[in-house]
Amino acid sequence: MSAVTRKSIVVAQRIPPNALKTLTSYKGFDVEVWNDDNPMPDDEMSKRLTSASGIFVTLESKIKGDLIKSVGPNLKCVSTMTVGYDHLDVKALRSLGVRIGHTPDVLTDTTAELVVALLMASARRLIESHKCLLSGDVGKWNPNWMCGKDIKGSTIGFVGFGRIAQTVAKLLSSFTVKQFYYATRSFICDETTLASIGTPCERIELEVMLPKCDFVIVLCSSNASTKLMVNRDFLSKMKPDSIIINASRGDVLDQDALIEALTTGIIRAAGLDVTTPEPLPKDHTLLHLPNCTVLPHIGSASVDTREAMAMLAVENLKAALEDRPMPAEVLP
Ligand code: GLV
Repeated sequence: MSAVTRKSIVVAQRIPPNALKTLTSYKGFDVEVWNDDNPMPDDEMSKRLTSASGIFVTLESKIKGDLIKSVGPNLKCVSTMTVGYDHLDVKALRSLGVRIGHTPDVLTDTTAELVVALLMASARRLIESHKCLLSGDVGKWNPNWMCGKDIKGSTIGFVGFGRIAQTVAKLLSSFTVKQFYYATRSFICDETTLASIGTPCERIELEVMLPKCDFVIVLCSSNASTKLMVNRDFLSKMKPDSIIINASRGDVLDQDALIEALTTGIIRAAGLDVTTPEPLPKDHTLLHLPNCTVLPHIGSASVDTREAMAMLAVENLKAALEDRPMPAEVLP
C-alpha cells in the first residue's frame, strides 16, 4: 500500500494490550500511541486533531471548546472507549464530518455489579467500618454500633432507566426489594423488560418518586438538562433515612448541596462512583464524611470489560476509516 493511502490513527492514552495489538495488526494504518496512563495533553491533541484520520480516546480527552477549532479535513472518527460521550462535543464534531464511536452494552453488567456493590457498601457502612479498624476505633462487639440499612423490603428509585439501571434492578430484585420506581424525561421502558425484573417497577414523576424511596440511584446521562439536577431541592425531597447513589457523571450532582444534606441529616448517606473533579483531592470534605462512600470512577473496571470496551472502540475506529457502518456509532 502506498504511503498516500495509509491512514493515521492516534491512541491518546495507554489502552489494554490486546486491543492495541489488534489495532496495530490491521493493515493500512499508521498507529501512534501516547503510551502513558495520563492522556495526551491538549496541545498535543490539537496537532493530532489537525492531521490524524482517527483518534482513540477515553473520557479523559475532552474534545470540545477550543480544541474543535483544530479539527482538520482528514479527521473521520473519534472513537471513545466509554459509553458516555459528554467529554466530546458531538454536535460540533459531526458537523465537521467526524463520526463518533462509543462502547455501550459491553460494560453493562460490570457497571451494574459495581452499582450494587456501592449501594451495599453505603447501606452497610463497609468503608466506614473498615476505616474504624484502621484507626483503632473499634470496641467490643456492640449491638448498637455500625448498624446500617436493609435492602430487603426497600423501595428503590432510579433517575434514568437505561441498560445499566435495568440490569441493576434485575440484580437487586433478588434482595426481595418491595418496589422499584424510575423517573425519566421521555423514555418508557417496555413491558417485557419490566416483567423480567421480577419486582414491580413503575414509571413516576421524579418529585413523586423521591419521598417514597429508601435508595435513589442516579444513572442518567450528563447533559444540559441533568447538570446539577441533584441539588438542594432534590435532596430535600428524599427521606431523611434514605441513601443516594450516583454512578452517572459527577456534574449531575451539586456536591456542596450533598455535603450539607449529609451533615445536617437531610439524607442518611451517599455512594459516589463519579465526582467533580476526578479524582477528588484527598482533603476534599466528601472523602472524610463517615456517611459518604466515594470511589474513583471504577464502574466498568474489570479486566475483561476494559478489554471488551477497548476492542469495540478499535472496531468502531476501523469501520469508520473504512467507510463502513460502525458497530456502535453515536447518532444524532
Ligand atoms: C464511563 O463512565 C463510561 O461512560 O463508559
